[in-house]
Amino acid sequence: EKHSASKKNIVLIGFMGVGKTTVGQMIATKLKREFIDIDQYIEQTYHMSIPQIFEQKGEPYFRKLERKTVIDICQHHYNNIVSLGGGAFQQKEIREFCLENCLVLYLDISWESWKARFELINENRPVLNNRSLYDIQQLFNERKHAYSMHHLKINTDNKSPEEVTASIIEALQ
Ligand code: S3P
Repeated sequence: EKHSASKKNIVLIGFMGVGKTTVGQMIATKLKREFIDIDQYIEQTYHMSIPQIFEQKGEPYFRKLERKTVIDICQHHYNNIVSLGGGAFQQKEIREFCLENCLVLYLDISWESWKARFELINENRPVLNNRSLYDIQQLFNERKHAYSMHHLKINTDNKSPEEVTASIIEALQ
């Protein structure tokens, strides 16, 4: 074993808009750990917003940066809370690395609850642009398979970020 369980990074996965960043920040505060949001880190490091990277460089380029960033961050930091973009776990390399080295926490949401929040989360997400609700539901279902590979799952339906955070803290004890 590379490092003890208590030093492992906790990696948050789940579909766009499920609350990975908000909840990640809250868990970090409660557990007195550092918080890193991979998308924010990419934006700061490369001085471009995620939509700009998609537009100017294309999605495959973004996925490469995402892969490099997740693995670098998790290799060089311990005991952190790390929130991943909703598509990151589709990458086998990211998935395998995180499952082996981190505690993978899946924030689950039902399609019905997600749809009810859709209007609130549509901004700045290139993957949602120009997609019908039907197409988004397809994507939502396709991604479930990758998300099913995790260590711990918390359902977020009808829960506030505070309630989700409390459930996570309880589950971690
Ligand atoms: C993506 C989700 C986004 C961001 C990018 C692509 C996806 O992260 O990484 O726009 O493919 O689901 P959030 O899950 O934080 O929105």
